[in-house]
Amino acid sequence: MDLSIRFRREMDKGLCRDTNPTAAVKMLPTFVRSTPDGTEQGEFLALDLGGSNFRVLLVKVMADGKQAVEMEDQIYAIPEHLMRGCGSELFDHIADCLANFLEKLGIKDKKLPLGFTFSFPCQQTKLDEAVLVYWTKAFKSNGVEGKDVVSLLRKSIKKRGDFDVDILAVINDTVGTMMTCGYDDHHCEIGLIVGTGTNACYMEQMRNLELLDGDEGRMCVNTEWGAFGDDGALEDLRTDIDREIDAGSLNPGKQLFEKMISGLYMGELVRLILVKMTKEQLLFQGKTTAELLTTGSFNTSYIYAIENDKDEEGLASAEKVLRGLGLDPLVEDCISTQRVCQIVSTRAAHLCAATLVAVLRQIRDNKAAEKLRTTIGVDGSVYKSHPEFSRRLHKMVRRLVPDCDVRFLQSQCGSGKGAAMVTAVAYRLAAQHA
Ligand code: BG6
Ligand code: GLC
Repeated sequence: MDLSIRFRREMDKGLCRDTNPTAAVKMLPTFVRSTPDGTEQGEFLALDLGGSNFRVLLVKVMADGKQAVEMEDQIYAIPEHLMRGCGSELFDHIADCLANFLEKLGIKDKKLPLGFTFSFPCQQTKLDEAVLVYWTKAFKSNGVEGKDVVSLLRKSIKKRGDFDVDILAVINDTVGTMMTCGYDDHHCEIGLIVGTGTNACYMEQMRNLELLDGDEGRMCVNTEWGAFGDDGALEDLRTDIDREIDAGSLNPGKQLFEKMISGLYMGELVRLILVKMTKEQLLFQGKTTAELLTTGSFNTSYIYAIENDKDEEGLASAEKVLRGLGLDPLVEDCISTQRVCQIVSTRAAHLCAATLVAVLRQIRDNKAAEKLRTTIGVDGSVYKSHPEFSRRLHKMVRRLVPDCDVRFLQSQCGSGKGAAMVTAVAYRLAAQHA
């Protein structure tokens, strides 16, 4: 509860014009103001960059409330040297993938509208311009921070010269998720990601968004809650292990809340705890191995298998994983490893619940509603693949806000559909004003 109140204060700081410049939680305006009205239609391209997969999609949107149909979807690899190399080469690669996709579908000569899900913090002054504040997660390409990613992508497409697209919208993955789920459930006004990274967006009243003019209606705000604590607000909760993770990361001092929760760090948190316990003679008879001491050797997906609800299977997985790390575990070692996994992932679920509850309270107060009825659209590998994470998150949220009727809706087809919906609305508005 205390953490939830603390985060609510951080939200206020980010929303307020005077305190925003120094706020850790940036509360970025997204320029997404409305949900689809059912009259949008057409074919849209979508790019989805920043989660565990990079995807190119072609989405057909049909009018009159029929389902939007995702027509084609292709995953492309982003080689590591591009994730952390030269920024213009990264955008050239994205343009290459897009060209390959269009060619494969035989639609290279069409100039289709495109929506770009770019899952990093961006300052936006309009829907089709997004200046990268800084990279997060496993990306760190040179020369992109402080630049508009739409211009960079347009430049790479122009350089090729063999196709053209109309980039109409850049959105965060939380926004794409909220819009994807909002298509099926009109109560959806929050988007949550617990995957490689963690973050949430929600529909905020314009009157509370002091950074922008105008008091009417609502706009979606990308909280970028992963940065909670970057100004020292979480120091009493962070452990030595959290500090070690941060020190060894690509972005020390940044995204401290995210590093306590998300999939990119969860396995490594467990590994560091196991190493510490072994050095203290509490595990594996005090014997470490080169594999256990190797950064990244404990994949987050191991936690999913080890926490399998059927205890026997979970323990068998623990043994397999530990043997894979060159260890010779006793049953007690396997039980302790399972317990470490449970503690790390439960902490993550409860931390997420605390910040989510702050967002729920903000929406409830905005509506002056006694009993809020709302839906949270959710995506991300931790939420979807961990056997207990979602249950623990739901339980803690309901405990903290028993007076809210909160439903969690898992996104079925990623944020691409949402990106197409936002693009469809932009396309309709552009056509009306033409
Ligand atoms: C996908 C969405 O389903 O989930 C992406 O399409 C999002 O936009 C991703 O970034 C988040 O999960 P993960 O686990 O891939 O980081
Ligand atoms: C990171 C990014 C954020 C994104 C989240 C989930 O926190 O900064 O923009 O939404 O990861 O992918």
